Parts: sequence; structure tokens; C-alpha cells
Amino acid sequence: PRISLIGAPTDVGASCRGASMGPEALRVAGLAQALQRLGAEVVDCGNVGGPANPCLPPVRGFRHLAEVAQWARLVHAATYEQLAAGRLPLLLGGDHSMSIGSISAVARHCRANGRPLRVLWLDAHADFNTAQLTPSGNIHGMPVACLCGYGPAELTELGTAAPVLEPSQVRQIGIRSVDEGEKRFVHDVGIEVFDMRTIDEVGMRQVMELALGGLNPDTHLHVSFDVDFLDPDIAPGVGTPVRGGPSYREAQLCMEMLFDSGRLGSLDVVELNPALDVRNETARLAVSLLESLFGKTTLMRKSSER
Ligand code: ARG
Ligand code: MN
Ligand code: MN
Ligand code: MN
Repeated sequence: PRISLIGAPTDVGASCRGASMGPEALRVAGLAQALQRLGAEVVDCGNVGGPANPCLPPVRGFRHLAEVAQWARLVHAATYEQLAAGRLPLLLGGDHSMSIGSISAVARHCRANGRPLRVLWLDAHADFNTAQLTPSGNIHGMPVACLCGYGPAELTELGTAAPVLEPSQVRQIGIRSVDEGEKRFVHDVGIEVFDMRTIDEVGMRQVMELALGGLNPDTHLHVSFDVDFLDPDIAPGVGTPVRGGPSYREAQLCMEMLFDSGRLGSLDVVELNPALDVRNETARLAVSLLESLFGKTTLMRKSSER
């Protein structure tokens, strides 16, 4: 594929600072070179430049709404430009609020081209809070709700009329931390969630088969990979770690099956916080997982297995 790296160094959507250093940590861990070794053509577009973090408390349920909205507009524009050029945008986050910008651009691109869209949300968290439900005011806990039309206009109407996504287009995987009110809301809108209990019970293989089920040959697959999806024992460099996530092997299988789907059209890698890491190990793990996502295998694979 022809990949465009787009840095989105935000941490305005979180209360813990440092995800803004994620893009550079992924570059330092050798992301571009690893993708090139797999035969990809990689262009690094550099970073989107947005507002600084004012470090303020929440106002009416939102921390830094104006700044998050400005970043979302800038990320939307940068992502749309690469999609329109026929390239695969790989967004380097940044906190997860920046996916409001990237996914709204992907949805707009799919609409313009009449292509179905499926979003896979790999995360410890459902990120389905609203200003009324949020315990923190942090907008990185709200992007899925905003994309489904639940949120303020500046976060729900980016480049297209709300809602950007129908809940039926979303599959969430690895979820193990959902706030009380958020739990009911996720249930009521009917998002399909493969939580950690489901992964324990049926295994990552079946979860991925189900999450990737029913794709058309022309479906655009967007993967939004929150690094806190991974167990914090293997990925400690995140601001909101939750015990009991996928193991190294479960995560590799997840990425390998995403590659095998052959549908990947765009990707976010978010919430990597190098300030909480040792020797950039979480970024290096992320690069190793992305190698699998872009086709690295242990053995020669028969084409029938692809
Ligand atoms: N549910 C919590 C909140 O809304 C945590 C959200 C964490 N989200 C994330 N993208 N890391 O504050
Ligand atoms: Mn396209
Ligand atoms: Mn998360
Ligand atoms: Mn998240």
C-alpha cells in the first residue's frame, strides 16, 4: 500500500499529559522503516499543528472543547487530503479525541465514493461518554459517541451531517472499562462489543472472525487502535491503563487477521504516552504489531490461507 504517516500530537482530550509525544515515539521506534521493509511506499507528512494544551478544568462536562474541536478539524482536513490522493492515512496520536477528525474524514471519503465503511475500535474503553455521563470531562472518553451523533455540533458535524457513523458500522474489541452511565448508553444504542470476557470465552480468533464478518469486497476498514487495548504488562506507556488486556500473542493474532482481511483503508494509533514508558518499549511493541497488520508473517503462507 501507499501509506501516509500523519502526526496528530494532541493531549487536550485527556487529563494526563504526554500523548502529544506519541507521534515522535513511533517514528523513533522505526515505524516508517518497518513498513518499508514490508514493501509499503511510505510518506511522512509530518505533524498537524494545533492549539496548545491550556490545562483547564472541565466546563459544562467538557475539558478543552474548543481546542479538541480545532484539532479535529485540522486532523479531518489532513486525513481527507491523503484519502482523496488514494493513499492510506496512518494517524499517529495523540489522544483518542483526534479520531473524531480522522474517522469523520474517512466516513466522508467513503460517502463520496459510495463505499461501505466498517470501524474496528481496539480499546480497553468504550469511549462512549457524553457531557452528561462523563466522570472526567475528558473528550478522549467520548469519540465514539460523537461519531454516532451524540455530542456538541463542533464534534458531531465535521465535513458531513451528523451522524458520521451508525452504531451498526462499529465493532469494539478488548473493552474492560466502561463507566456506569456509559454502560447503559452503549447497550441502548446497540454497539457490538467484544469485551475481554468474550475474548476469554471464545478466543481472539473467533472474535476477529465475527468482527470482520459480512464485509463486502469494497468495504473500507478503519482500525482505531488505542494502545491501552493491550495488557499494561506489555504496554505500560499509556495514560489510562486497565489490567487484563490482550496478551502479546492475542494482539499479534488480531493484527494478522486484520491484514488477512485485505480491507484496511486507514488506521489510528493513539494514546501512546512515552512519558510513562521505559526505553520506548510501548512504541516498539506498537511497531511490531503494525508489522503484522501490514503483512509480516513467521512462515511463508499459502495463498489459500490469505
Ligand atoms: N471512561 C473514562 C473517561 O471517560 C476513560 C476514557 C479513556 N479513554 C481513552 N481514549 N483512553 O474519562
Ligand atoms: Mn480511497
Ligand atoms: Mn482506551
Ligand atoms: Mn480510546
